Amino acid sequence: MPETPWTSTDRVEFETPPPQLHVSGHPLVRHKMALLREASTKPKKFRELVRELTWLLGYEALEDVRLEPLTVTTPLEEIPGEVLGDRIGLIPILRAGLGMVDAMLELLPMAEVWHLGLFRDERTLRPVEYYNKLPDSRTVEVCLILDPMLATGGSATAAIDVLKRWGAVRIKLVNLIAAPEGVKAVIEAHPDVPIHCAALDRQLNEMGYILPGLGDAGDRQFGTGAG
Ligand code: PRP
Ligand code: URA
Repeated sequence: MPETPWTSTDRVEFETPPPQLHVSGHPLVRHKMALLREASTKPKKFRELVRELTWLLGYEALEDVRLEPLTVTTPLEEIPGEVLGDRIGLIPILRAGLGMVDAMLELLPMAEVWHLGLFRDERTLRPVEYYNKLPDSRTVEVCLILDPMLATGGSATAAIDVLKRWGAVRIKLVNLIAAPEGVKAVIEAHPDVPIHCAALDRQLNEMGYILPGLGDAGDRQFGTGAG
């Protein structure tokens, strides 16, 4: 066992961004990310920012969902309109993904929510599954995995594995911060899964934390960090 869990010295740097990766360039996203990263931001404000960023990223991630035609009767006329045709499932990765659920439900009140519990073993950085609330049969067309952090990519890859074994066909990842190492790992394992994030950071440190990152997203939301 190595002394530090993350021993890769090979920085991953993309010459050209992979087509699966969508990094929001929206000024509001960039503004809110600066506040989110700031170490002095307290849990209450941190949770608000996670929620607001999730609205903005969720909006972008849903740009290609299917629409169905319907007739709308305004007070004055009948016109052709559209409603969402795809049923959507939200899969928050416990625990840090919990902070993204309410915002997505505000955008998609009809979405189903299936909790998936994964944590990173601190020694190996491998994901450990401890909770799975997926329904018995597939009930949606599009699955959105919600997790603020894509670090080594182990948790995201495991979550996608679980969803594919269960029958999911269209899966999207929604993260706030992605490390290039995690993006590469997910794309190698699941090239069909688009990744929507607010920022692509520089690299992982030797403990598998994202640099510059924001620290531990779960601790910062729920006030469980040291100090
Ligand atoms: C964090 C984060 C991701 C995972 C990312 O969760 O929310 O799920 O780490 O790391 P990876 O890409 O290297 O797998 P953590 O395991 O700290 O659990 P928590 O949300 O319960 O704090
Ligand atoms: N999980 C986090 O919460 N932060 C990181 O930087 C990496 C994994």
